[in-house]
Amino acid sequence: MSARSRYLMCAPEYFDVAYVINPWMAGNINRTSPELARQQWQELYELVQTQATVELVDPRPGLPDMPFTANAGLVLEDRVVLSHFLFPERQGEESYFAEWFAAHDFKVFTMPTQIAFEGAGDALLDRDQRWLWAGYGHRSALDSHGYLAKWLELEVLSLRLVDERFYHLDTCFCPLSRGYLLYYPLAFDEPSRRLIAQRVPPEKRLIVSEQDAVNFACNAVNIQDLVILNQATPQLQEQLQQSGFQVVQSPLGEFMKAGGAAKCLTLRLDEPRQRLTPVIPVVAQRTIILEGHLLDSNLMSRVMDTIQEAGGSFEILEFHAGARPQDLSRAQLLVTAPDLERLEDILTLLIDVGARLPAIETLDATLETVRQQGVAPGDFYTTTIYNTEVRVQGQWYLVQNQRMDGAIVVDDHSRPVQVDCQLLRDLQVGQKVVSGVDGIRTVLKREGRETAEFTFMGSSISSERRVELVVEQIAWELRRLRDQGGKVVVVAGPVVIHTGGGVHLGQLIREGYVQALLGGNAIAVHDIEQSLYGTSLGVDLQRGTPVRGGHRHHLKTINRIRAFGGIAQAVEQGVLTSGVFYECVQRKVPFALAGSIRDDGPLPETQMDLIKAQEHYAKLLQGAQMILMLSSMLHSIGVGNMTPAGVKLVCVDINPAVVTKLADRGSVESTGIVTDVGLFLSLLTRQLHLG
Ligand SMILES: NC(=O)c1ccc[n+]([C@@H]2O[C@H](COP(=O)([O-])OP(=O)(O)OC[C@H]3O[C@@H](n4cnc5c(N)ncnc54)[C@H](O)[C@@H]3O)[C@@H](O)[C@H]2O)c1
Repeated sequence: MSARSRYLMCAPEYFDVAYVINPWMAGNINRTSPELARQQWQELYELVQTQATVELVDPRPGLPDMPFTANAGLVLEDRVVLSHFLFPERQGEESYFAEWFAAHDFKVFTMPTQIAFEGAGDALLDRDQRWLWAGYGHRSALDSHGYLAKWLELEVLSLRLVDERFYHLDTCFCPLSRGYLLYYPLAFDEPSRRLIAQRVPPEKRLIVSEQDAVNFACNAVNIQDLVILNQATPQLQEQLQQSGFQVVQSPLGEFMKAGGAAKCLTLRLDEPRQRLTPVIPVVAQRTIILEGHLLDSNLMSRVMDTIQEAGGSFEILEFHAGARPQDLSRAQLLVTAPDLERLEDILTLLIDVGARLPAIETLDATLETVRQQGVAPGDFYTTTIYNTEVRVQGQWYLVQNQRMDGAIVVDDHSRPVQVDCQLLRDLQVGQKVVSGVDGIRTVLKREGRETAEFTFMGSSISSERRVELVVEQIAWELRRLRDQGGKVVVVAGPVVIHTGGGVHLGQLIREGYVQALLGGNAIAVHDIEQSLYGTSLGVDLQRGTPVRGGHRHHLKTINRIRAFGGIAQAVEQGVLTSGVFYECVQRKVPFALAGSIRDDGPLPETQMDLIKAQEHYAKLLQGAQMILMLSSMLHSIGVGNMTPAGVKLVCVDINPAVVTKLADRGSVESTGIVTDVGLFLSLLTRQLHLG
């Protein structure tokens, strides 16, 4: 065995749960037993002493968490990065630990005051000394990782903690000798789990169950092949033994009440460098600028949530709030991410909500060439519904045909330069596609007269009480658009017919309120069945009762229309004389029926080639100013993805979840109405004085 390692511990003379700064402490205030705590600590102390030298720091009154020496700092050889606690309750410990390290000839590094870092609780060296695992998300700030990398000259791998029970990295993650790792994966976000899997081979990853995790099995002291922990199930003990470790349980129930166990009560003082390879810090940062109605539009909080949910952190460098309601606010934020790739992902999300990168004013967009038909270069920028501008040769160009989930194609040889949104499948070899995040900005619509008139559409979901008011305003807007020769597109599902709404939709078409109709096979079949047989899926809509033999009407309808060669022909032959599709044919309102796997028949007009169906939808949607989405989740979501921000959306569905999904586009122009679609259409036609 090599020279005995050294550990720092602190006797629990003043230990207690005196405040609540983690979920374990809740309900345990002043409920620890000093005698039992002393006895448990003593047992651990003696166990560690069998293998290592233990040094002691004096406990101090009023600092009940001081026995958790893992949080004193992070040691590597003769350097220590001192902790700077997040909560004031523990900040009093900092000076005593600083004194102790200085007195023991450590070179001390201190974090800037605004950056929290909780020592070896959140920073664990790989036991093969290849890198440092560093946690963030609850206590230590992601920004601290850059300093660790710089001061300790090693590679830092950032892991984001997402379960508040595991508030420090050492509560759920324990690197063991010979490259093994004991950990509870669900305490981490998905990118962190992936990073762990990339660095530690499967046979070395010892995954603990939730039962072991909540008993703090990962909060273990590992000296050579000895693993000292609070408690482990027989399964975990066996797993560790099979990997060559000797497990010793040292009950630490009193300390668990404060959210700590064996590892928290110790700090290794002689972490060697040996095989550490110096690596440049990888924590990535970039400044963003936000301008607009940041507070009343909730943009500021959305940006902050977006950064954190995506695994980054931020610092507000500057904030000027607009003094009057009409004044714009401006903020500058420093965004930090664990690596460049994640920074770019976060920036892409922020650009979508209107953030600007200061450097973009001087940087052109990065263009990469398509090398394979229908495949974009790896780092391509994915488009959103928001109008976007791209900087090419020093000039900003508005992206044409904006839609969601496309790529931006730039033709910089044409004059003027052409910038278009294209679907991946349409990309041609040799085309240039925007990649990365530079030279791209989202044009957020400023609140103007038009939206002021539409204030009821503030992305809100209407309750039943508000439906009438909302319908009144939709009627007003429909009238306005019709009188100005505007374009309204309706997307509708078969429920419109089942609920008796077909007659009202027919009226809207007849009176010129609808300029295109999008749907699937079902709405057309049900509407025509209603016209030919008075039933919809065999149900008499007047009486709401099934008609004997009515179930055949559905297929008979399909068969008859197929025999005529299509809906228009059936109208021309005088067979189809009423209904939604009759009105479309009569009024020359174009319609597109997109096929699905559920379709019976289908009708001749139903396009079963989905690429062609999407193209037909996109064509009919061009220039739309308002879209009514009526009870078809499938087709409405499809349309939502093709529609740029700025088009007014009204989504009607009985299911609040569907309405939320469709209406929540982060733009002011959409509204959701949770109600029966038949009722909605009848109210609407009444408001328009059609019924
Ligand atoms: N026989 C057929 O050919 C046949 C039959 C049914 C569906 N389909 C096809 O399946 C696909 C999906 O059909 P879809 O769009 O009807 O299904 P969908 O599930 O995508 O959408 C139906 C929506 O209607 C909502 N809804 C139900 N009752 C409502 C009410 N009273 N008021 C308001 N909203 C209500 C639901 O919450 C749901 O969101 C379409 O392409 C359709 O043509 C074919």
